Amino acid sequence: MTIVQVNHLENYQNLNKSKKLNDDQFYALAHYLKKKYGLNIPFSKKMMIESRLQKRLHLLGQPSFASYLKFIFEQSSKIEYNNFIDLVTTHKTYFFREDYQFEFLKNSLPLYFQQSGNKKRLNVWSSGCSTGEEVYSIGMIMNEFREKNYHADFHIIGTDVSVPSLQKAAKAVFQVKELEYLPEHLKDKYLDPILEGGEQQLKFNNREVSSRIKLGALNLNNSNYNLPVNFDFIFCRNVIIYFDMPTQHAVLKKLVDKLKPGGFLFLGHSESAIGTNLPIKSIRPTIYQKI
Ligand SMILES: C[S@@+](CC[C@H](N)C(=O)[O-])C[C@H]1O[C@@H](n2cnc3c(N)ncnc32)[C@H](O)[C@@H]1O
Repeated sequence: MTIVQVNHLENYQNLNKSKKLNDDQFYALAHYLKKKYGLNIPFSKKMMIESRLQKRLHLLGQPSFASYLKFIFEQSSKIEYNNFIDLVTTHKTYFFREDYQFEFLKNSLPLYFQQSGNKKRLNVWSSGCSTGEEVYSIGMIMNEFREKNYHADFHIIGTDVSVPSLQKAAKAVFQVKELEYLPEHLKDKYLDPILEGGEQQLKFNNREVSSRIKLGALNLNNSNYNLPVNFDFIFCRNVIIYFDMPTQHAVLKKLVDKLKPGGFLFLGHSESAIGTNLPIKSIRPTIYQKI
């Protein structure tokens, strides 16, 4: 047992109390995040949100959640707002997640391209791309196809609501454990081992692919996506699962609006567009084609 002096204990308890997110603060945040981003954050997630944000309070020397929230929302600290959004969202991702979808993309490209008259620019959107593993996985598949079909031109847009995630995506440096499902021949061809922070990491090295990738912040709950093109392939995987039902339906509708007829939509393994009355047909679980 650790023995502490009573006055120290008192201070410790006060400090701890002030660094707690109270119920009202939680509900205010949850309400804000639902309204602005469509995120559904039930009360059961309060502890998780609290512990994620506590790290920022400590780092910034903020004495309480009240002052931290004031710092973000009243003093409009843009950088801290970005960190805050990054922490209240979940970014789990890895190369070739749900690899059957990448196999499907690879196998459908020859016919899709041929049906377009062999001269089409293919546009791909990774919406909710997190730290970039999805974007670069798509990039490798598209580039393997382009190398065998010299007329094929492709462009990939990766968007997310988290700016720190997009910055990591742009840096294109990955930990070895994030590459577990990346086929060895692609790893050898597209990534270089580098030493960063005394740790062995891998950097995506293919300029041809990188030059065809654009990254940007976009909130899928926006009423209009303002993207300059329509897409042949849209990936929106493991994103709408965090939204409430009306937002899920509204986002799916806006995604399908941005899809070309004949184009494909890929969702996450526990997400579905069945029963939405949208002009799509289910090709196999989580893969849809616009009619
Ligand atoms: C779990 S990750 C999925 C990453 C990748 N698509 C995959 O399946 O591996 C979910 C991503 O969705 C993003 N996200 C959450 N709400 C969003 C919104 N309203 N608009 C755009 N992106 C959002 C998060 O920032 C996070 O990076």
